[in-house]
Amino acid sequence: MNSDIRAILFDSEEIAELVRGLGKRISADYAGKNLLLVSILKGSVVFMADLMRNIDIPCRIDFMAVSSYGSGSKSTGVVKIVKDLDINLEGYDVVIIEDILDSGKTLGYILELLQSRKPNSIKICTLFDKPCRRQVALQADYAGAEVPDEFVVGYGLDYDEKYRNLPYLGVLKPEIYASDSSETA
Ligand code: IMP
Ligand code: MG
Repeated sequence: MNSDIRAILFDSEEIAELVRGLGKRISADYAGKNLLLVSILKGSVVFMADLMRNIDIPCRIDFMAVSSYGSGSKSTGVVKIVKDLDINLEGYDVVIIEDILDSGKTLGYILELLQSRKPNSIKICTLFDKPCRRQVALQADYAGAEVPDEFVVGYGLDYDEKYRNLPYLGVLKPEIYASDSSETA
């Protein structure tokens, strides 16, 4: 285990099981529809890569990059589109793929933006959910597992762009981000 990690919440096998379950549900719900998976970079890239291989119906993928945290560990509430989608959403049944739903500010903004582009339908799939942290009334249509109110990294999730490559979801030792007082980075 990485020495900056205090505990492992979900190991790679447990995550694979969650992803398999979500893939199965989406495959069943979207059979015969015009499925487009929209991955929110960078955090959801690992989840997206595994989830799409657990979906056994035709689908397309696209990517959008937003920044809301900078290098810090708390949401700024400011969402900036860094890379927009390539595909025009009209006629698609969109599922937004997120790594973790925390305050809901990021997804609230993205949902409103994508809804204005008139897709057939739009739903949210998050691998991890921290419902106790919610500041925006928002619920995932598909959620892998709830996590406690702690800063977690790995399986795509970062702190200061690090730890995304860990194959498990772990709790970061608080001393690693204790000196981080900036919420505007
Ligand atoms: P929200 O806007 O507060 O819901 O935050 C959404 C984004 O913040 C996620 O897509 C993650 O990139 C990041 N985030 C939220 N909580 C954590 C965490 O515990 N670890 C790493 N990133 C997080
Ligand atoms: Mg992040």
